[in-house]
Amino acid sequence: MFNIDNITRKNIRELTPYSSARNEYTGSAIILLDANENPYNTDLNRYPDPYQLELKKTISDIKGVDIEQLFIGNGSDEAIDLLFRAFCEPREDKAYIFPPTYGMYKVSAKINNVEVIEIKLNENFHLPSIEVTKENLISKGLLFICSPNNPTGNSHPLSSIKEIANNFHGLVIVDEAYIDFSDSISAIRLLPDTPNLVVLQTLSKAYGLAGLRLGITYANENIIRVLNKIKPPYNINSLSQHKGIEALKNTANVENQISSIIAQRIKLMNVLKKIKSIKQVYPSEANFILAIFENPEIVFKELQNKGIIIRNRTSQIPGGLRITVGTPNQNIKLIQALKAIAS
Ligand SMILES: Cc1ncc(COP(=O)(O)O)c(C=O)c1O
Repeated sequence: MFNIDNITRKNIRELTPYSSARNEYTGSAIILLDANENPYNTDLNRYPDPYQLELKKTISDIKGVDIEQLFIGNGSDEAIDLLFRAFCEPREDKAYIFPPTYGMYKVSAKINNVEVIEIKLNENFHLPSIEVTKENLISKGLLFICSPNNPTGNSHPLSSIKEIANNFHGLVIVDEAYIDFSDSISAIRLLPDTPNLVVLQTLSKAYGLAGLRLGITYANENIIRVLNKIKPPYNINSLSQHKGIEALKNTANVENQISSIIAQRIKLMNVLKKIKSIKQVYPSEANFILAIFENPEIVFKELQNKGIIIRNRTSQIPGGLRITVGTPNQNIKLIQALKAIAS
């Protein structure tokens, strides 16, 4: 039986959290003289809601998940760091990752003095067999599954995620930063009967709000309670809360942009497949494409000389360059540049 106390660090279990002014008084008093704020109205002279209830209510209505199962972070990256701080005993617990994958899991683990165990994805970037994964699970900690995966673009089946969660005594974190570009079903569906599952989504990608820094964590309420206990009291500023609600309530524009990005992704892939110096173009369920080039360093440099910046992933994937799908106009310029370099 999963018990949150068995995976929470002792210092966190025993912590009396900071209690902010807006935590202690949540009513609608006329005179607020409790938080040492400036009393003159600037629209931002008051501290924000520490638990972002209106934003959570909006997300809860859209996603059908209880407010108590939601945590909002200053980007997904804040949630990743807090998960380490709460649930990974430094030098004891482990972080399990499936490379090639998003680099922050490893960096966050190292910042928190947690050893990283790498279980490589297979040649098509699919998860290894459950037997191979199990052999590597030598202690509790955090296990990250990025789906759709950055930088490979493929997603992982819910059945595999569930099987891994059932065989692991720590938390399984499914990072769905790119889920809005995919037809795959979110792992949120597994939450009711997977108590050690955490799902991360973000407004940084499909919602076009990377500058806002809003990441959504979905998990069993016992896990969320621990994250709330250790987060900075006012981690989400008032402007971000307000903008986030607005964005989530007006999705027509975002939906059009997602459709356009997906259509452009398909077009771009077809063109890339015809360029001779590209050895392989991987299918993508995200807003980027991974392609394997014969001469990646030259292509990367020459694109840069033409003012086009893509991501060099050769340190993780030989020959691998990751290209974010741009606007139709940007993609035309990219293709022209790639053809010129290839000729
Ligand atoms: C897989 C993945 N997760 C999380 C993030 C970061 O998300 P946020 O902007 O919400 O911190 C990124 C950003 O590139 C990403 O690729």
